[in-house]
Amino acid sequence: MSGIILLVMATMIAGTLLAGTIVAGAVESSDFDDPTVCKGCHGEIYNQWDGSMHSIAYTDPVYLAEEEMASRETDGLTDTYCARCHTPIGVLSGEVPPIGLENLSEISKKGIQCDFCHSVNKSTGIGNGAFMVSTDGIKRGPHDDSKAPYHGSMFSELHTKSEFCGMCHDVNHPVTGIAIEETYTEWKEGPYNSTTQCQDCHMTPGVTHFEANPGKASGIGPYRDHVYSHYFVGGNAAVTGVIGSEVHQRMAEERLKSAATLALDAEMKDNEAEITVEVTNVGAGHKLPTGLTEAREAWMEILAEDATGKEIYHSGGLDSVGEVDPDAVMYHVVLGDASGDPTMKVWEAESILFDNRILPKETRVERYNFAIPGGLKGPITVDAKLNYRSASQKFLDELFEDGAVVAPVIEMASAQGMMEVEKESGVPGFECIFVLISLLAVAYLVRRRKK
Ligand code: HEC
Ligand code: HEC
Ligand code: HEC
Ligand code: HEC
Ligand code: HEC
Repeated sequence: MSGIILLVMATMIAGTLLAGTIVAGAVESSDFDDPTVCKGCHGEIYNQWDGSMHSIAYTDPVYLAEEEMASRETDGLTDTYCARCHTPIGVLSGEVPPIGLENLSEISKKGIQCDFCHSVNKSTGIGNGAFMVSTDGIKRGPHDDSKAPYHGSMFSELHTKSEFCGMCHDVNHPVTGIAIEETYTEWKEGPYNSTTQCQDCHMTPGVTHFEANPGKASGIGPYRDHVYSHYFVGGNAAVTGVIGSEVHQRMAEERLKSAATLALDAEMKDNEAEITVEVTNVGAGHKLPTGLTEAREAWMEILAEDATGKEIYHSGGLDSVGEVDPDAVMYHVVLGDASGDPTMKVWEAESILFDNRILPKETRVERYNFAIPGGLKGPITVDAKLNYRSASQKFLDELFEDGAVVAPVIEMASAQGMMEVEKESGVPGFECIFVLISLLAVAYLVRRRKK
């Protein structure tokens, strides 16, 4: 990266940080309560949060590896910029920089936690960590009638809206302005913006819509028609399985499976298969996939086999080093660096070279044509799958030893079709003519005998 860009970046990042009320170091991490304190009265909510991607946002090994690489390649310029969203208390208290876990208090290690979110008292806008916090001890939340023995309570409209999540779920490059992640903007520009908040799908049992969760937010509080849940489940079934929890991993798989549907039509014409697959984003309130989309992969896998299991066509398989077939239909983003070459390093991003992700409620039609060789045993079955994984092998191999870390492939949706094998001769009705001639021949012979 050139010296000028680095200088501009330093100034811009300082500007972004100053947008918050609190200058780094003006609060102590001990001004915030550890989540285990909240657990005493909000046990159920604590258990939902514990093991979520928010609870491990800073100890996440994939994050730590990329933070380290970014820091090395920019001489530390990205340190507070990245950590601001991944350990907001770590940055506000001035414990970061340096990056990494060594200098961090126990509370800052707990990523995005109870007392951070419920101390947010104002937002300065969307993206790049546009939050302000108050250390007055009052917990901001969705109720205007909430009373707690331990803390003051206050209604906060911000907490009930997507704009709360949008403070962090939109990430722009501070110098080039390139949208590195824009989940909030995708939602804002989509069909859910007036009907469904992020909280309705990510903080209720509904997954793709609001669904009430009656109960108590605290054992010593009142019964309510709905209590917001705190699993914050997205598509990450990889890291949740390693340092999160099995519950969160399973819920991520379920969420991915409710996001899309597939419909398949298989036809044969002149010994050529014509396959049409329709994929619809039925459940995600933003593009599919969203978030860290230079790493995430959602792709179509098509496999055609004859009745003996002989493979006739395969698109979207994995090769020996775990990369997806380069000819596969893949929904993702490719970022470009200063020379216009693809890069997965977000700090180098100066353009978006490619983005074919599926819009909320959009149906995309993909077509496949391939020849059917002779001598096969019918019928031919065609299997279509929409696959997802949290990171490409290339992305993981850049951060870790080659092949050391592998993201599991989750099947989001599937559809099947069948085709009959056509007979060797292409002349239609040949069989009928053959039968007719045989019948005539038999009739002739019978008549000759009678004579
Ligand atoms: C001594 C018990 C106790 C402890 C400890 C406690 N709370 Fe509460 N909290 C309550 C009760 C009771 C309510 C009222 C629940 C209701 O109104 O449904 C409540 C309500 C809340 C609300 C809703 C506020 C609103 O106006 O919408 C939030 C947010 C909250 N607590 C966050 C926290 C956080 C964060 C912690 C840890 C720093 C914490 N609580 C610790 C008992 C406690
Ligand atoms: C990412 C930010 C975030 C984190 C982390 C978080 N919360 Fe919340 N919490 C919210 C939001 C937002 C709401 C309100 C949702 C709405 O009204 O749409 C909420 C609601 C609540 C409520 C009121 C629930 C209800 O519906 O009556 C309580 C109590 C609460 N949180 C406690 C906690 C505790 C305890 C923790 C940690 C174990 C925690 N929160 C972690 C954002 C967060
Ligand atoms: C302080 C910044 C911040 C706020 C506010 C915030 N998030 Fe997050 N969120 C993050 C970060 C950072 C991660 C990713 C952690 C990681 O992957 O290591 C994340 C992860 C998630 C995930 C899991 C993604 C996956 O791949 O599985 C979901 C879902 C999510 N957030 C939803 C929400 C919702 C809904 C809200 C608003 C109620 C919200 N977040 C508010 C920073 C934030
Ligand atoms: C209509 C329901 C719905 C709404 C509204 C919604 N989401 Fe999602 N979200 C989903 C589903 C389903 C998935 C899983 C499919 C996917 O990964 O895109 C998901 C995935 C995610 C992920 C993980 C993406 C990945 O693959 O790494 C994040 C982060 C996220 N949502 C954040 C948000 C935020 C922030 C908002 C509000 C701006 C929001 N969501 C609004 C349903 C919704
Ligand atoms: C504005 C807030 C924000 C900033 C700044 C930010 N991130 Fe994130 N980061 C997020 C959110 C939100 C997610 C979750 C999106 C998703 O799940 O796809 C995330 C996810 C990630 C992940 C995925 C982790 C996993 O396990 O899949 C990595 C890696 C990451 N960020 C690295 C970085 C680095 C490196 C920087 C600095 C160059 C950075 N982030 C800056 C908000 C931010």
